[in-house]
Amino acid sequence: MDCITRPELVDFHGVSMTHYFTDNWENVQNFQARPDDILIATYPKAGTTWVSYILDLLYFGQISPERQTSIPIYDRVPFLEIIVPGLDSGKDLIDNLPTTPRLIKTHLPIQFVPKSFWEQNCRIVYVARNPKDNMVSFFHFDRMNGIQPEPGDWSSYFQRFLEGKLAFGSWYDHVNAWWKKKQTYSKLHYMFYEDLIEDTGREIEKLCSFLGLTPSAEEKIKLASGVQFDKMKKNEMANYSTLPVLDFKVSPFMRKGKVGDWKNHFTVAQNEAFDKDYKDKMKDPTLKFRTEI
Ligand code: A3P
Repeated sequence: MDCITRPELVDFHGVSMTHYFTDNWENVQNFQARPDDILIATYPKAGTTWVSYILDLLYFGQISPERQTSIPIYDRVPFLEIIVPGLDSGKDLIDNLPTTPRLIKTHLPIQFVPKSFWEQNCRIVYVARNPKDNMVSFFHFDRMNGIQPEPGDWSSYFQRFLEGKLAFGSWYDHVNAWWKKKQTYSKLHYMFYEDLIEDTGREIEKLCSFLGLTPSAEEKIKLASGVQFDKMKKNEMANYSTLPVLDFKVSPFMRKGKVGDWKNHFTVAQNEAFDKDYKDKMKDPTLKFRTEI
């Protein structure tokens, strides 16, 4: 693999981004979606892999079980905007996907989503996670991920999260803009990480109804149990252990999988500052997050 270095954060059309997600811009913007494509959109660390794995099992778990044991999740559900020297770009991986539907992952803020997804009226699953746990998870991810900017220490990271100075920009802008879109775009299913933790079966039920899928009760029970944290953490095809840019000696990809781990990171003063700032930024009372369950 070519030499990979940690990138700088740049201002890209008003959003903090890194070149690993903008170098393929033209191709990404001109991406040709198909009507049955399913886009899984998230701010990083909101549960993207979890939902990708659930959707992959829902569509292909029965018809091609060998897929589950031979193809890593990041190849089954390619990451649209990523381009890293020496690896296939997300766009190329998608173009070569043999499946129908194609499951596609993105972290793009809504204004950057290629227009063909809207033109083709594609189904989109958006996953959001409460900002405190999202921040903690992102911090540890940036520590272990060689294609992310240096995270620095926790207190500076905390500050940068509030300022939206992380790859893919502001969590606040991301979750709000996608939430707003839901009001006018009926093919958007907006779900929460905390709900998935609380009752995986119930959330799978909702997903099936959104996707028009009708697995048997038995299949659904098997699925809900098969996608629990401990099982996924052990599964090499789902836990990212096969991806060379990640350093598992620093932190595992499947780290804790909990609601409320922020309490082990936030100081009392940080928590107060966070809550105050949150109130100023999050004006829509209909979008509610749970920081504990
Ligand atoms: P933590 O770092 O808090 O453990 P993404 O896939 O968007 O990068 O999100 C990764 C986060 O989702 C990690 O959070 C990871 O542990 C968590 N996650 C992945 N699969 C999960 C599962 N089956 N149950 C609970 N959390 C899961």
